[in-house]
Amino acid sequence: MTMRDQILGLPGQLRWAAGQAQPSVSAPAALLTGMGGSAMACDVASLTAVHYPVPVHRGYGLPPWAKDGLVVAVSYSGNTEETLSSVEAAMVRGLTVAVVASGGRLVDLAADNGWPHVAVPAGLQPRAALGYLAGGALRVIEGAGLIPSQVEELEEAATVVESLLTGGEAWKQAETIADRLDGKVAVIYGGSGPSAVAARRWKTQINENAKRPAFWSELPELDHNEIMGWSQSGEKVRPYAVVLLRDPADHPRVRLRMELTRELIAPRITVAGEVRAFGNGLLARLFSLIVVGDALSLTLAERAGIDPVPVATIEELKLRLQEA
Ligand code: F6R
Repeated sequence: MTMRDQILGLPGQLRWAAGQAQPSVSAPAALLTGMGGSAMACDVASLTAVHYPVPVHRGYGLPPWAKDGLVVAVSYSGNTEETLSSVEAAMVRGLTVAVVASGGRLVDLAADNGWPHVAVPAGLQPRAALGYLAGGALRVIEGAGLIPSQVEELEEAATVVESLLTGGEAWKQAETIADRLDGKVAVIYGGSGPSAVAARRWKTQINENAKRPAFWSELPELDHNEIMGWSQSGEKVRPYAVVLLRDPADHPRVRLRMELTRELIAPRITVAGEVRAFGNGLLARLFSLIVVGDALSLTLAERAGIDPVPVATIEELKLRLQEA
């Protein structure tokens, strides 16, 4: 399937997730673990935590404080080394495990141990399965009673993303930003919360689909350090361009900081665009930002004549690790 088709599939993935049964699992706390595109799904699910924190772990093993509760292992392939290592640590510590995967070792482990398992459809690039993976992770922590039901939020997100894709707005914004990036390295700024998660997603999609470097950072933190990085050049000579992701639900002082930060950096660095979130619910606002970044990453790839689908260097590295 082409990457364009995979991106166009996002609203359907979010609707699929809304229609999944909640796995039944009782746990006093949860930690989400995954890498890359699957970790992004963990970030999305983690944002919905209102009663208890649901942290995200990216890496081997588990943090020392993970001593009880549920470990939700999210891996599209089901074979990611770090995620399997987290599951192994969870088993050693006697923690409950739930799995969100399309196949691989994780699915086998879930079957052998009778763990709750959300089986997501296979055949996509992990990063293009974000709706399935995030939706699956959400349903698991809902099932554990750690967050309120996200069904309506997933449905709203699907509607908003669909209208941005089919109405053409996402592609229009992507074209404008791609024009202004004009070969520069994209630096994506979000506010803390959904727009920061979206900023990270923009960065990773530009990396993997367009095969270009990109960076992200979040307010208010960047106002205390990174802002100085643009302060020395009197001209816009730097090979970077900033994109600001704005969520109307950001803290009012973060919204003000976005304005002031833009004013202060604009004389020294190209501001390639500002994208506003749409929708009421957190998931709609988040995915409304994500979909423009997805469209941008594809636009950049197509303009450069690059196939957005394969990630040969990531695969090569995984292979070398297996052989080592
Ligand atoms: C590839 C991609 C990667 C993978 C990562 C982990 O499209 O997005 O970032 O997500 O290498 O693999 P999985 O998701 O299979 O656990």
